[in-house]
Amino acid sequence: MPEAEPAASTVALCRLEEIEDGEGKGFVLGAGSERREIVVVREGERVYGYLNACPHVGTPLDFQPDRFMNADGSYLLCHTHGALFEIETGYCIAGPCAGRSLTPVALELGSDRIVRLPA
Ligand code: FES
Repeated sequence: MPEAEPAASTVALCRLEEIEDGEGKGFVLGAGSERREIVVVREGERVYGYLNACPHVGTPLDFQPDRFMNADGSYLLCHTHGALFEIETGYCIAGPCAGRSLTPVALELGSDRIVRLPA
């Protein structure tokens, strides 16, 4: 049976297997004033999405493409000043923006791809 295409207002990002388990992957969506950078983190069969903008001063979290995690992979790391964020919630547990959170991005894991849902 052919797989249903995502609704027009959703954005297909990639297959789950394209994100290494325990790692994050960055995506750029839209253009011009609609341009948004997001990060998708995979934990097994679960995925979590956030805008790739630190709540401290708004810089991207990664200093190199797709380098989003701290050394042991337990938290998202902002490489600008070292803030740590919970993978499951985006909540900052340490650093200059402790107590604030990344902005969540709604995702859906379909049968063969991760889809960003409308905001
Ligand atoms: S910009 Fe992220 S901790 Fe400062």
